[in-house]
Amino acid sequence: MDRPLHFDSLLIHGGSEPGPAGATSVPIVQSSSYAYQRAEDLEDVFRGRAVGQVYTRIGNPTTEALEKRLALLEGGGTAIATASGMAAITTAVMTIVRSGDEILASSSLFGGTFSLFRDTLSNYGITTRFVDPLDLEAVAAGVNERTRLLFVETIGNPKLDVPDIPALADIAHAAGIPILVDSTVTTPYLADGAQLKADILTYSTSKYINGTGTTIGGVIIDRGVFNWNSPLFPHFETFHKKYRAFAFTARARKLVHKDVGACAAPFNSFLLTEGVQTLALRMDRHCSNALALARFLAAHPKVAWVSYPGLEDSPHHAVATKLYNGRYGGLLTFGTGDKASSFQAINGLRLAKNLANIGDAKTLVIHPASTICADYNIEEKSLMGVTEDLIRVSAGIEDSRDIIDDFKQALDAL
Ligand SMILES: Cc1ncc(COP(=O)(O)O)c(C=O)c1O
Repeated sequence: MDRPLHFDSLLIHGGSEPGPAGATSVPIVQSSSYAYQRAEDLEDVFRGRAVGQVYTRIGNPTTEALEKRLALLEGGGTAIATASGMAAITTAVMTIVRSGDEILASSSLFGGTFSLFRDTLSNYGITTRFVDPLDLEAVAAGVNERTRLLFVETIGNPKLDVPDIPALADIAHAAGIPILVDSTVTTPYLADGAQLKADILTYSTSKYINGTGTTIGGVIIDRGVFNWNSPLFPHFETFHKKYRAFAFTARARKLVHKDVGACAAPFNSFLLTEGVQTLALRMDRHCSNALALARFLAAHPKVAWVSYPGLEDSPHHAVATKLYNGRYGGLLTFGTGDKASSFQAINGLRLAKNLANIGDAKTLVIHPASTICADYNIEEKSLMGVTEDLIRVSAGIEDSRDIIDDFKQALDAL
């Protein structure tokens, strides 16, 4: 082909090469290590004089096929596939910050990321300041001489707020620091990293990239646009000299990803490469089902409130429309007034599954205050928008009439 493929075709063909015996799906190379005939050959690979595999913690052909495809979906750059979304975030953050540095993070985060910043990285001399990502003045005021990273989610999970990421990127760049964007909820189908001015992106591929709830995985995308040649980042100096725009990828691959060892398993990379092929079709259905359900819930007498950026009266509608091309994702939240009635509503659902995940083909619900956010105090819950009656719904790709019927019968019974 002499012209670049469009996004929906890249989902299927991006980076793919013919497999053995004409196989059209990516071969699963289930091998820990790779043998070389001569000692000199392996030395050449280790020293970077020849291209080759060494050990699956460092690289694997099945995982490389996934990485190539995911990088192409972000318009180029490089990708590092990891064991989970948390592994992607941890590896990316540890590549950038060192002991004594500060992270400025959105206060509207997935609970695992919040805990990584608040509870884990704080033990290693890395401090995180949390700030409302919608308050641009507070974000600008939150940057100080120790800040080395701005971290934000495209659509906060579970708050479902939609920060103006290009405006946040401008603040980060004016301070000479990168912005790392977690695009798990939007995926590259809704969110274009270049339009967001993101330097680095991460996704939990366990969600929409996989699509059927079979696999845990994550990815780090380096768009190769941040200038790491800066006195704020002396630890990038040698990597920048050799790898220039891709100093981040080099530092991550040669140090943190290799040393932390949270690599993708080859079989998981295969499942993710299969899953990503239908991302566009599935995301359209997730989005339209979420909108249909949000509209239904907004009109139901037992529902106290509904939050979905796709609703015209949502305070996030305008920014989401501008950034995500008229699509608003598959997540919505609603409340029935108190915890007891929320539990009753969840218990009454027959189709939707009550479990801790998002982005599955199946419709999922959870009561975050008593589960994924149970460890947080009242102030933290309120920062994350988690009320006692909040039910988070991850709209699946079933027929919307069946989803709505399910919620109708559960809510009518309250
Ligand atoms: C926005 C977001 N980021 C990161 C993660 C972590 O991903 P994983 O569970 O694959 O580690 C999740 C998981 O729910 C998430 O929702």
